Amino acid sequence: MDPPRAAVRVKGWLRSLRDNKQVVFMQLNDGSCLATLQIVCSPDLANFEVVRKLSTGSAVEVLGEIIASPKEGQRVELKADEVIVVGEADPSFPLQKKAHSMEYLRTIAHLRLRSNTFGAVFRVRSALAQATHEFFAARRFVYVHTPIITASDCEGAGEMFRVSTLDAEKPPRTKDGKVNYDEDFFSRAAYLTVSGQLNGEAFAHGLSDVYTFGPTFRAENSNTARHAAEFWMIEPEMAWCDLDGCIELAEAYVKHLIRAAFERCGEDMKFFDERISKGLIERLQHVLNSEFGRITYTEAVERLLASGQKFEFPVSWGAGLQAEHERYLAETLLGRPVFVTDYPKEIKSFYMRRNADGKTVAATDLLVPRIGELIGGSQREERYDVLKDVMVAAGLNVDDYAWYLDLRRFGTVPHAGFGLGFERMVMYVTGMENIRDVVPFPRTPRNCDF
Ligand code: 4AD
Ligand code: MG
Repeated sequence: MDPPRAAVRVKGWLRSLRDNKQVVFMQLNDGSCLATLQIVCSPDLANFEVVRKLSTGSAVEVLGEIIASPKEGQRVELKADEVIVVGEADPSFPLQKKAHSMEYLRTIAHLRLRSNTFGAVFRVRSALAQATHEFFAARRFVYVHTPIITASDCEGAGEMFRVSTLDAEKPPRTKDGKVNYDEDFFSRAAYLTVSGQLNGEAFAHGLSDVYTFGPTFRAENSNTARHAAEFWMIEPEMAWCDLDGCIELAEAYVKHLIRAAFERCGEDMKFFDERISKGLIERLQHVLNSEFGRITYTEAVERLLASGQKFEFPVSWGAGLQAEHERYLAETLLGRPVFVTDYPKEIKSFYMRRNADGKTVAATDLLVPRIGELIGGSQREERYDVLKDVMVAAGLNVDDYAWYLDLRRFGTVPHAGFGLGFERMVMYVTGMENIRDVVPFPRTPRNCDF
């Protein structure tokens, strides 16, 4: 039986047009899904001559009837009764049928989202953001908006963008010739945040389980496929929680996001599997069905040393794990995501809780195949004296962090949390290989277009 005929009105952008003289076929897409709708236009259309000359990229509104389609691969098509040309595209519209390189598409970031790949990427990105809020809401976490402008360097890595209204050409100077930030907008030096964690910790000491989800900024000059100067981070912070609790939540959250992508963006995920990263769906299914690995930093170093593998950077206890080491651990050694725990205190941040061995901290990184570090987290140092000593030794100005130390003076509790790099998660789920291709308008060293 034929499907019932139904009168509809659709709006979208022309992906392609085929002119058969007697009839014109248009493929229309509005971004709601990967598929296009075929529009069939016959010469009885009042503006048939205009329609047949439309360029790819044009915005049109079509009134007509949905009918069964004889064409293979589509159940229905729209027989047009009226085609309204809303916004014609200049014939120079750059997204024609031929395939373009990812590099070229980055130069047209304002138009690339009208392609199959980028439509799918940004639908998945949206689904993962929405699934994030659902995940934490279901566990009764309170969503906190931590500040974007801050005076403290959470990671202590000195990779902050300055926020200032001083005249960059002629800044006011102190007597000893330094720039006088007392005269700046905030009467002190201020920066874009690298992490909402410290503020999140304050909220956890009162609201118990909280999370932030916002933009973070790093002025690190890393020109890699995994670093952006502006990226989004999800940072849960939990009072009355240790490193094990933190790891448990992280695993449940990552699995929740993978499941959400399958459930909400099934068609897009099939597209990524076929066109972007062969075997993606099977690999992610395997991740869903396996328990994440867990090894200490010390074991990881031993296994890297025993691997017989030639690495560009040498492996030794006390040195940071490089991307190549991280990928080897997750991809080759374990073949699944792995939590590495208990890193040497010298290579981790001041706020991480010192372990009893005097050498390591209760920190964890989640390493995943293809990406490397997806999550960084830790149990926080809740002991006032220990924290203060570490901060002094690290050369931090303790007065600037007085409020942070206060949390350890007024009802301190064991607490823990982590940060998940949202873009890296989108890369992991979609199989996209460069962070620049999962950010709407990427900001990287020497690039701030759009
Ligand atoms: O490991 P990081 O530096 O940890 C923190 O900022 C902690 N304060 C988080 C916390 O415990 N609340 O960063 C967390 C994650 C990394 O694992 C990585 O996925 C991502 O953020 N990330 C970046 N993503 C893209 N571009 C960059 N430049 C990134 N730097 C970190
Ligand atoms: Mg880290």
